[in-house]
Amino acid sequence: MDASELLLTRQSTPRLTQPAPSESQLDFILNAGARVPDHGALTPWEFIIATGDGLNKLGDIFVKAATANGAEEAFIAKAKNMPHRAPMVITIATKNQQHPKVPLLEQQLAAGCATMAMQQAAFSLGLGAVWRTGDFAFSAVVNEGLGLAEDEQIVGFLYVGTPAVNAPVKPLKPGRQFARFL
Ligand SMILES: Cc1cc2nc3c(=O)[nH]c(=O)nc-3n(C[C@H](O)[C@H](O)[C@H](O)COP(=O)(O)O)c2cc1C
Repeated sequence: MDASELLLTRQSTPRLTQPAPSESQLDFILNAGARVPDHGALTPWEFIIATGDGLNKLGDIFVKAATANGAEEAFIAKAKNMPHRAPMVITIATKNQQHPKVPLLEQQLAAGCATMAMQQAAFSLGLGAVWRTGDFAFSAVVNEGLGLAEDEQIVGFLYVGTPAVNAPVKPLKPGRQFARFL
């Protein structure tokens, strides 16, 4: 896939199945994630990969967080299975750093760019991916379970795998409709 096609046809793939990215595909995806604009070269991100039994571990962390939050039984059962919506889930977290010229927002934006780049990279390989967040991205219990400090921010759970269905290509949104000249 060339760059123009990628940029103008990229879309998310919510319905994913096996196989997960191969080792070389995963390297490509992670390298794309680390290639994004990064003010001050802080690399203010961490990519935490769950696949195989890692998906169970992530599900257990979600269950703990939902339970601590007083969620209903039905939601707790759903939480356990959430990571299994794909054969791989990459959690992207901001590694917050104190810097005189790079506020936290910029570090979170960089981590967001990394998430987007990995989503695009998966798509360019003919794989599929979808960026999700939800309450678990803002949960101290999830942070603890993933070994993140309390002030570190999860910016996304990137679900990655093989498209389960041949989804139609979404129509282009003409960018001009969001633009104006000053
Ligand atoms: C920061 C962020 C968080 C998101 N969280 C969710 C989410 O929790 N659940 C969801 O279904 N989509 C979520 N989305 C949207 C999807 O990733 C996707 O962009 C959307 O479904 C539109 O599909 P498209 O990428 O094919 O245009 C999120 C997107 C962003 C940028």
